[in-house]
Amino acid sequence: MNNKQSIGVFDSGYGGLTVFKSIARELPQYNYIYFGDNARTPYGDHSFETIYQYTLECVEWLFAQGCPLVILACNTASAKALRSIQQNVLPFKYPDRRVLGVIRPTAEIAGDFTLTRHIGIMGTRGTVNSESYLMEIHKFFPEITVSQQSCPMWVPLIENNEHQDTGADYFVKKYIDQLLTKDDEIDCIVLACTHYPLLVSKMKEILPGHINLLAQNDIVASSLALYLRKHPEMECRIGKEAETSFFTSGDPQAFNSNASIFFGKPVVSKHVNMKAQC
Ligand code: DGL
Repeated sequence: MNNKQSIGVFDSGYGGLTVFKSIARELPQYNYIYFGDNARTPYGDHSFETIYQYTLECVEWLFAQGCPLVILACNTASAKALRSIQQNVLPFKYPDRRVLGVIRPTAEIAGDFTLTRHIGIMGTRGTVNSESYLMEIHKFFPEITVSQQSCPMWVPLIENNEHQDTGADYFVKKYIDQLLTKDDEIDCIVLACTHYPLLVSKMKEILPGHINLLAQNDIVASSLALYLRKHPEMECRIGKEAETSFFTSGDPQAFNSNASIFFGKPVVSKHVNMKAQC
C-alpha cells in the first residue's frame, strides 16, 4: 500500500538528525518528514509548560502533514512532553496516531553496557531535572546506581557549530569532571541528548578509556524497526517511496549548511512558521 503517509521525526533543532541518520539507514524504504524547531531551540532550559506547548505544536504540524507516527528524536521533549501527549491528547484528539520517544528504548538496554553497575547520564537541564532516566533505568535495572549531569552549554555550542573548536574544550571537560566527581565508579555514560554524538571525539580525549559512551541513534532505529514489525496496522499506513522532506522553523539556508554535519549528506529544507500554525 503506497499512500504517501510518512514517519515524522522531530527535534528542537539539528540533534534529531543523528537519530534520523540511523533510522534512514536501517529503514530506507519508508517516507519521512524531519522537522527541526530551530527558531525556538534550545528547549533544554525552558519550563515544562513551554516544552510541552512547543512539542505539541510541532507534533500536530507533523500530523497535519500526514504522519500517523511521530518519533520525538529529542530527549528533552521525550522527558517533558511525551507522556502528556500520549495520555492526554492522543486518545481524545488523534486516537489512530502514535508518538514515540527516545528515553525508554535507551533505558531498556543501558544495563548491558556497564560492568560496575554505575551509569552516568549527560543531558539538558530539562532532561536531567525530569529524572526520567533515573525512573526508566530503575524499572529495568533497579540495582544500577545512576548519576546525572546537566550540560547546558553543549547544545548552544553544537547548534552554533562551535563544538569542534578549542573554545568548546572547557565546557566538555567541565561537565565530564562534574559527573565523575559525583561517582568515580561510572563505566558507562549515556549521551542523553541527541545533539551530543557530535561531541564524542572531544569526550573521548578526556574520558578514561574504560568508560563506554552510549549514543542513542542505533538504539532508537532498532526500536522503531521492532515497533513497526509488531504493529503491522501502523506499518501498512506508511508510504514506501523512500522519500524524505526536511522542514525547519528557522532559516532554511542555515539549516541546509549545518544539517549535513549531523546527517552526513546534503539536506534541502523548507521553512515553516510555527507561530502561523498556532
Ligand atoms: N536534542 C535535544 C535533546 O535530545 C536537545 C534539546 C535542546 O534543544 O536543548 O534533548
